[in-house]
Amino acid sequence: MTTLRTTSETFRRLRRLRRSERLRDLVRETRLSPADFIYPLFAIHGQGVRREIDSMPGQYHLSPDELAREAEELRSLGIPAVLLFGLPAAKDDIGSEAYDPDGIVQRAARALKQADPGLVVVTDVCLCEYTSHGHCGVVVGDAVDNDRTLPLLARTAVSHAEAGADVVAPSDMMDGRVAAIRSALDESGFSDTPIMSYAAKQASAFYGPFREAAESAPQFGDRRGYQMDPGNAREALREIEADIEEGADIVMVKPALPNLDIIARARQRFDHPLAAYNVSGEYGMVKAAARNGWLDERLVTLEILTAIKRAGADLIVTYHAKEASRWLGGH
Ligand code: PBG
Repeated sequence: MTTLRTTSETFRRLRRLRRSERLRDLVRETRLSPADFIYPLFAIHGQGVRREIDSMPGQYHLSPDELAREAEELRSLGIPAVLLFGLPAAKDDIGSEAYDPDGIVQRAARALKQADPGLVVVTDVCLCEYTSHGHCGVVVGDAVDNDRTLPLLARTAVSHAEAGADVVAPSDMMDGRVAAIRSALDESGFSDTPIMSYAAKQASAFYGPFREAAESAPQFGDRRGYQMDPGNAREALREIEADIEEGADIVMVKPALPNLDIIARARQRFDHPLAAYNVSGEYGMVKAAARNGWLDERLVTLEILTAIKRAGADLIVTYHAKEASRWLGGH
């Protein structure tokens, strides 16, 4: 060992590999690519509607025809996938439009697939945007009834697949929903449709801007009776394990930034593709600070997305997908 030493230095010169941009590029361990991104979209009924969302600057409510235009832009940017949410025409206590064949997500999925058959259309499967009470399932008394919600989620997932969804993504946090959705899809001839489950999803205040955008805030109480307590990392791993056992093909951790530890642990423990959701509040913090001139949006966003990927996420759901793709392409 000592014979290899050619200098008398006792410290490491780690700066040697930081001397130029191209040298740094050469040894960079984590690289972002537009291929990592899933872009969330908010579909709304109508035609020619492209309305900016107050709580989420730069994001829009889009009618199906406008979504088709969006698909073309995503393709040119190299973004392979979207995650679809819908604003229904009407809400009721059992979220009927969620599983209506002519519901907004079903229409939007058809429009997107028609515009670009190769686009990976992932649909969010949940009832909260469709229920009058804003909860993610059927309310009995003052709580969401797990087992009564499962058939409705399964029906929603099947109707999304019938409309052309490539992947269904349950975000409701009911126990057993992955198994319920898997068997319903299989029975309906969709055994090839993958499930990306929001496996470890916390009851997070970072969803605030989204709930305004999707008009899905609970009208009473909160979601802590079904979404996870942010203090629990081991339980997050049990949630992921449960969803994998039930048949999830891709598992997700959400929100991303406060959970880099859970992403890293999940990456080590499980071999399934791992997604992380860089949620609305994380986007909003960056946007607000950038608008005030406090942060450089480009540098901060790329730093955040790199950190999420470095922690172990294979896929990142992010509202910054389009901008980040442009920045990565040098535009
Ligand atoms: C629906 C759902 C939510 C988000 C994704 N799917 C809101 C919630 O659970 O209250 C949040 C996404 C975001 O904040 O960007 N259950």
